[in-house]
Amino acid sequence: MKRVADKALGPLLNYLHSTGRERVGIGRTMAAARVYNGLFHSRLAAGRKAMFEERFEELILENGPCTSEPNTMVDGLALDTSGNLPYIEELLKESDELISERGEAKAASDKYRSFFRNIVSPGDLRRWPSFLDFITSSEVVTTVSRYLGYVPCLSGTLPPGVRFVESWKKYDANPDSPPRDSQLYHMDPYGTPMVYVIVLPRDVTMRQGPFHYIGEAESQRIAREIGYWSPGKPFRIQDDEVYAHLDRSKEMVLDLPRGTVLFIDPSRCLHYGSRNSEDPRYMVMYGLTSPVRTDFSESLMGGTKVKPAPGDSRLRRAIIDKHYRD
Ligand SMILES: [Fe+2]
Repeated sequence: MKRVADKALGPLLNYLHSTGRERVGIGRTMAAARVYNGLFHSRLAAGRKAMFEERFEELILENGPCTSEPNTMVDGLALDTSGNLPYIEELLKESDELISERGEAKAASDKYRSFFRNIVSPGDLRRWPSFLDFITSSEVVTTVSRYLGYVPCLSGTLPPGVRFVESWKKYDANPDSPPRDSQLYHMDPYGTPMVYVIVLPRDVTMRQGPFHYIGEAESQRIAREIGYWSPGKPFRIQDDEVYAHLDRSKEMVLDLPRGTVLFIDPSRCLHYGSRNSEDPRYMVMYGLTSPVRTDFSESLMGGTKVKPAPGDSRLRRAIIDKHYRD
């Protein structure tokens, strides 16, 4: 049914996903996408709300009880510098393997966002199991689900649900051009609310173009003041406009040690990164959304699919597979 509708409405959806998005207004296209996707996926979303509201404790116990108090997201954020989250040691070790095998291995190019590349694919997740073990651990799922009010799933389109990103000026054919694309402040329109879980597999300093971010309340105030997401407003905001409204003491920088974990709602918190990466910067980035997204990417893109394995808990299946029903 959805496929038929996607095909029939293809040109319109494509327009709203590309050139029309800013013209019509990102906020309006998101509202339209929520209604459209809701026609097909609202039952999946309701099921995930029920999983959280009615059976969450049982699902967590089956997945493996929390061994420490989960982080709580406040103001769209939670920062964990304890180094104690489950599977973090394994994730760091496997990240080292991945970096030594695939890091610093590409020539400069002028392709779209060449300064930022993903070096892991869904097929790699069996070889390096800690990537899924970490994001499906009870502590991490509890933090994210409590913030969202439902059990989310890994994004299958934009962004890919599991990314291992390497940012480096050396990959950019125009390294000295003014900041562009994700190097400028923005909020992501894929779903709202949604959560990114970002892990630093190496220490990050200012030489690596660290991720910059602003809490939800301050971000929303700025967005209101500049009319962000309104018709005609660009997705990426130039620095002078943001800094005319931002109290700079509220700007946060992820220039922190290996093992740091940031939970952030990128649809509610302004952020940018990968600016002036003199040295390579690495981040594991997970994207968790509702099955009812606020973009049209699933209608227009093939997407990636990570498959659950036999023996996976119900909670783990729900995180991995958008279509899972308990
Ligand atoms: Fe973003």
